[in-house]
Amino acid sequence: MTKRTFLILNGPNLGHIGRRQPEIYGSRTMDDLPALLESVMGGKAGDIDLVHFQSNSEGALIDRLEKAREKGIDGVVFNAGAYTHTSLAIADCLAWIGIPCVEVHLSNIWARTGRPLRQQSLMGERCVGVIAGFGILGYALGVRALLERLSD
Ligand code: DQA
Repeated sequence: MTKRTFLILNGPNLGHIGRRQPEIYGSRTMDDLPALLESVMGGKAGDIDLVHFQSNSEGALIDRLEKAREKGIDGVVFNAGAYTHTSLAIADCLAWIGIPCVEVHLSNIWARTGRPLRQQSLMGERCVGVIAGFGILGYALGVRALLERLSD
């Protein structure tokens, strides 16, 4: 099995997962991800390397995606935070870099009412799939899904 390298990319306000509004986003932190990965990877956790990046800036996220392309990163698990709903620039980047991307949200954005814009994603059409509503587990499921997709 070829070893794959995936980028776990987090956008604005996602540097404090577990502390930020835990009633919406959950109380688990990114430190819980390795154990969740072990549990969902079915013994395949050794087949992947993960690199992590978080930024509150739109341009920095685009720069990191371009760098991922240059470095031959195999896939991206991406929570773009509020840029999900607003950033045509990030969606344009995903459209050309040619790296399979899974869109992840801690909360189920479609179940959140009060602000209709939050239920829309500009990322979705540029991603192979979307996982929302499972907290940190969503990142682990995204990694698993990417690995399956790449071995199809
Ligand atoms: C989020 C949902 C977004 O609407 C919000 O702006 C975030 C987090 C999520 O993970 O549920 O920052 O992407």
